[in-house]
This record gives sequence, C-alpha cells and structure tokens, in this order.
Amino acid sequence: MTNQVPYSLTTRSEVQNGVIPYCQANNIVVTAYSPMEEGQLRVQNVLEEIAAAHNATPYQIALAWLVQQPWVITIPMSHNPVHLQQNWDAASITLTSDEMARLMDLG
Ligand SMILES: NC(=O)c1ccc[n+]([C@@H]2O[C@H](COP(=O)([O-])OP(=O)(O)OC[C@H]3O[C@@H](n4cnc5c(N)ncnc54)[C@H](OP(=O)(O)O)[C@@H]3O)[C@@H](O)[C@H]2O)c1
Repeated sequence: MTNQVPYSLTTRSEVQNGVIPYCQANNIVVTAYSPMEEGQLRVQNVLEEIAAAHNATPYQIALAWLVQQPWVITIPMSHNPVHLQQNWDAASITLTSDEMARLMDLG
C-alpha cells in the first residue's frame, strides 16, 4: 500500500538514492516518517521567512512541503494538543511553486 521511509526538509537520503523518485514515477504512495526530525527541526532563515508569510510555524511548513509533493503523505507524531491542531491545519497551507523550490534547495 505504501513505502514508509524517512523524509523531511533535512533528511533527503531516499531522494538521493532514487527511492522516492521511483515511487513517484510508478504511482507508489510514499509515507514520510519523522517529518519534523523527531522535534529537532533545523530552522533556517528561508523556512522562517516562508512560515511568517503564511502566519504558520516552521513545523507546519515542513509538513505542508511534504504533502504538497506528488504521492507523498506523512505521519507526524505529537502528544501535545496544540501541536496536533497545528499539524492538522498544516494540510490547508498551500505553498507557491517558488516556496516549494526554495524549500527543496534546503536539502
Ligand atoms: N517506519 C519506521 O521505521 C519509523 C521510524 C521512526 C518513526 N516512525 C513513525 O513516524 C511517526 C513520526 O515520527 P517521529 O515521532 O520519529 O518524528 P516526528 O513526527 O518528526 O517528530 C515528533 C516530535 O515532534 C514534536 N512535534 C510534533 N508536532 C509539532 C509541532 N507542530 N511543533 C513543534 N513540535 C512538534 C513532538 O513533540 P510533542 O509531542 O511535544 O508535540 C515530537 O517530539 C511516528 O508515528 C513513528 O512511529 C516510523
């Protein structure tokens, strides 16, 4: 049903080794695990800027960036009700193609 692999703004090993591009080219759903670096997301200037533009947190942008890619879904984990709501709301954030490209370049 899905290929569950580590994938986040700062973990790109499965892109570099060809697994994610292969899945996307062959209509295989990719489930990105540890999408927020287990809570240790590295917040760089670009990420902060884009978060501010959307009135969102960097963590929400990290999730939006993933699920806006074709064939990619994600399973963020949280025990905090505020974070749970933020993660849910992140699904409604639409990033521009320029923002997607700038975030892609962070890898
Ligand atoms: N297949 C595999 O081999 C594999 C390996 C690792 C993980 N997984 C699965 O992937 C899922 C997620 O991975 P993960 O738990 O490793 O990492 P993650 O989802 O990247 O990070 C979870 C951490 O992020 C924090 N967090 C969540 N939402 C946040 C937000 N909106 N703002 C700030 N901090 C936030 C959480 O703290 P709070 O609780 O305080 O929100 C928690 O410490 C889990 O269900 C796990 O079982 C699968």
